[in-house]
Amino acid sequence: MTTQEKESFDAAAFGEAHITKGIGRLTKHVFEEGKGSYITTDKGVKLLDLTSGIGVVNLGHCHPKVSEAAAKQCMKITHAQVNIGFNKTQVELIQDMLPIMPHKSLDTFFFWNSGAEAVEAAVKLARAATKKPNIIVMQGSYHGRTNATASLTRSKTIYGEGHGPLMSGVFATAFPYYSQWCATPENSTEELVTEALHQLKLTLQQQTAPSDTAAILLEPVLGEGGYVPAPPEFLHGLRRICDENNILLICDEVQSGYGRTGTMFFVEESGVRPDVLIFAKGVANGFPLSGIVASKELMDKQKPGSMGGTYAGNAVACAAARAVLQVFKEEKVLDNVAARSKQLFGFLNELKASGTKAGNLIEDVRGRGLMVGLQFARTPSKAGSQNAAAMFAKQQPQIAPKVVQECLKRNMLLLSTSVFDVLRFIPALKISEEELSTACSIFKESLEAVAEEISKE
Ligand SMILES: Cc1ncc(COP(=O)(O)O)c(C=O)c1O
Repeated sequence: MTTQEKESFDAAAFGEAHITKGIGRLTKHVFEEGKGSYITTDKGVKLLDLTSGIGVVNLGHCHPKVSEAAAKQCMKITHAQVNIGFNKTQVELIQDMLPIMPHKSLDTFFFWNSGAEAVEAAVKLARAATKKPNIIVMQGSYHGRTNATASLTRSKTIYGEGHGPLMSGVFATAFPYYSQWCATPENSTEELVTEALHQLKLTLQQQTAPSDTAAILLEPVLGEGGYVPAPPEFLHGLRRICDENNILLICDEVQSGYGRTGTMFFVEESGVRPDVLIFAKGVANGFPLSGIVASKELMDKQKPGSMGGTYAGNAVACAAARAVLQVFKEEKVLDNVAARSKQLFGFLNELKASGTKAGNLIEDVRGRGLMVGLQFARTPSKAGSQNAAAMFAKQQPQIAPKVVQECLKRNMLLLSTSVFDVLRFIPALKISEEELSTACSIFKESLEAVAEEISKE
């Protein structure tokens, strides 16, 4: 390419022509550089990133200690294949990870590359260990886009639509999220939990018998389904039902794990022990690494050779993951999550209560740490069932996607989520007070612009 050709090269247009249309895309920006909470495009546009690449670069883009560790590993060994021998960096990473496990029984690992692969590994393990075929998932769950994980995903039909037949043996039960029950945020948690556990018991009597059910798989914080933390009582209820029926409890903390909710894993908050814990995303801050962890007794029920993979637990990704844990300690990341979480919740709740046109559109602010969901409604929140009915009748175009577009105009990346009208805030866990304050101002301006537009409809 000549210099002139390079200058006139339109990477977005080329990408559009040569990358599958199957990838939906929020923007046509071409990302070239990332540093901390900012990402810069090939046209020199600097964007404040409140998505962290969907909860991946939790320590910010290109954290120097993580990038340096990966670079060093590149000069040592990049591919230490796990079906041929032990990968030293991986073994060292396990030593580092053991102390952060939410339960001491979780001591045996299997590493893979993506979140979906790790979910598949958990399902394989559950089926092999229990010799039972079926998996129960939650309504609204997101576990990935591969064939097996698309069948486990119940957040939107798009991931499986037209791609069948998907994996069989999957049954869905309701999650204690008010929008799934035509209720309102004021609905009592106790009532939602009781109803959800009742539905699960019915599922085990009417759809998949305990003797056929290998595992209950859930995201302890429903992600793509609406950013809804599971109440501790619900997690305890699941544990009890699993124990009574010899069913495994699998927690997918691909998005909620690694400090995102203020603790290393969200299940720590309830103290509930998962039989299998799934992790990915933030674990290596942008390098592809995922995995599952369970007790040795459970893990060793799989036959040698049944697990593995060409890149399983790649050495460079493992070196990055070791650096991630070092940064958590050295830079007191969880302290920042607590402080910034307070700042963000304070701001959003104040806006909600402000009585302004913008504030009146906010129905619910929820989440933990820096995994924060905000749900909109055009009518007062007491009208839960009317809101849901109007939305399904498509009488109420969603507000969240409009706000996302307004934020984009102001050079901030923010994501909507779920079939309900929800925005998700996933800033870097190391975002500064000033950066978050800028983000809040941009969000407020954007919502005000949308509120103004709506008031004229
Ligand atoms: C909870 C959860 N599980 C699984 C996945 C799938 O991970 P991946 O996209 O790395 O396959 C995701 C991705 O967003 C997720 O949020």
